[in-house]
Amino acid sequence: MGATAFQRTGVVFLLVGLCLGMRMGMTEDFSLTPVHTHLNLAGGVLMFVAGLFYAQRPEIPRWAVTLHYWLHLVGGLLLVAGIYGAVTHAPWYGPVVGIGAVGVLLAMLVFAWNVFRKHGAM
Ligand code: HEM
Repeated sequence: MGATAFQRTGVVFLLVGLCLGMRMGMTEDFSLTPVHTHLNLAGGVLMFVAGLFYAQRPEIPRWAVTLHYWLHLVGGLLLVAGIYGAVTHAPWYGPVVGIGAVGVLLAMLVFAWNVFRKHGAM
């Protein structure tokens, strides 16, 4: 996985989030606003920004980019599904939102490590 995968996945998150936003507006039912915002921001914006960063830093090892990608993708999907479950009062939402949140946090820790570490200087 590389910069392009991050950017393509981010755009897909954004398109889904935008469609949900339009549906919310058309039906005047804003109960899914937290789902919309996390699709757009945690999914769309964060993944696309990471893609822009990795495109500028090709020296970062591929495995570190791939680890970030899968943690972010799986964590992000579970987070959004869990928030949907919370909003709709589904009984299963707790563990799903919890695992998703931890997944996204781990993804951000890997991202931070990739941003701070002096890759290629060792
Ligand atoms: C087709 C484009 C979009 C449509 C139709 C749309 C629609 C909506 C609607 C109907 C709401 C609920 C407003 C309310 O509760 O009063 C909302 C909230 C929100 N949207 Fe979007 N949205 C779009 C794009 C975006 C994008 C691109 C982002 C961020 C990257 C975004 C972030 C947010 C946030 C953060 C909120 C919560 C605002 C608040 O609760 O104060 N939206 N959007």
